[in-house]
Amino acid sequence: MEMIAIGAMSPLTGFLGRADYHAVLDGMHLGCAYGEVIWPLPIVLPADPAQAKSLRDGQEVALQAPDGARLGLLTVEDVYARDLRRESQAIYGTTDPAHPRVAATLAEPPVAVGGTVQVFRLPPPAFATYHLTPRETRARFEALGWETVAGFQTRNPVHRAHEYIQKCALEIVDGLLLHPLVGQTKSDDLPAAIRIRSYEVLFEHYYPHDRVLLAVFPAAMRYAGPREAVFHAICRKNYGCTHFIVGRDHAGVGAFYGPCDAQRLVCKHAREIGITPLAFDNAFYCTRCGSMATAKTCPHPETDRVSLSGTTVRVMLRGGETPPPEFTRPEVARLLADAVGEV
Ligand code: ADX
Repeated sequence: MEMIAIGAMSPLTGFLGRADYHAVLDGMHLGCAYGEVIWPLPIVLPADPAQAKSLRDGQEVALQAPDGARLGLLTVEDVYARDLRRESQAIYGTTDPAHPRVAATLAEPPVAVGGTVQVFRLPPPAFATYHLTPRETRARFEALGWETVAGFQTRNPVHRAHEYIQKCALEIVDGLLLHPLVGQTKSDDLPAAIRIRSYEVLFEHYYPHDRVLLAVFPAAMRYAGPREAVFHAICRKNYGCTHFIVGRDHAGVGAFYGPCDAQRLVCKHAREIGITPLAFDNAFYCTRCGSMATAKTCPHPETDRVSLSGTTVRVMLRGGETPPPEFTRPEVARLLADAVGEV
């Protein structure tokens, strides 16, 4: 609701109705009422089937928070059946419940309510100091005189490969929107507060303050790889970005997607999305080059490269080891070492 209300999901004005739901699943586009524009994820309002039966088209229903607070109004457009297995296959490329969002999707009600949403009020945002709506980020970019802005999506504490691709982007655009996601993530991703803290520390010590804006992205993670990368790009365009960084296995999980699948899909639809993708190969530290690099710039073998997976880092931290400076800046490594005891 928040994403719809603030315009982060423009052109959506509510939860998908039947025709849009099927158009998104089958062809990654919205239906004719929305001008058949590109849209990759089914933004649906699952409903209890018994309750949904009592709803009539055109009826207005209140949308409440779990504590009973009234947040807004939904004008019911239609009530329809979801095909959860087909939905999983289309969006996540699999029906394997080992995929974290597939398991959750298959457990959702097979009924959804479509319709336009009017939002009265939202609960106070998480990370209020960094909470900027698309209108506000656009105004900031304008005030800063940035004509070209690269957006960066992330769900992890920042490491040097992230920093490398962000700074490569900064070489060619006016400004960088660091836009860590703060909505729901899977349980073994490090909490958003640690993610934000890592960015504060890095920003303080390693970034040109007049060329980087840190703000939060209040979406949930879907781990939908290629389709989610398209979604991330559309949303960042709404926030005013002209460019979008898509690195290795963007929005991926486990081995469900190939390392370049997400960037291939974003590049294929870039014109339609209206954003310039900045695609990056897997970045690592090369001990022979003495710098960050990718296979495009470094001729040395794998054995010279320092490249750690998120899982390896978590295991190191839990074992009391600090990740090496080739992987994480020492300030961030210290923060992670302190934080891991708390999670
Ligand atoms: S994501 O789920 O938000 O994509 P993550 O926070 O790890 O996960 O990644 C943020 C961005 O950095 C994504 O575009 C991802 O592809 C990119 N990225 C992460 N690690 C690397 C790496 N080692 N090399 C190149 N790109 C990377």
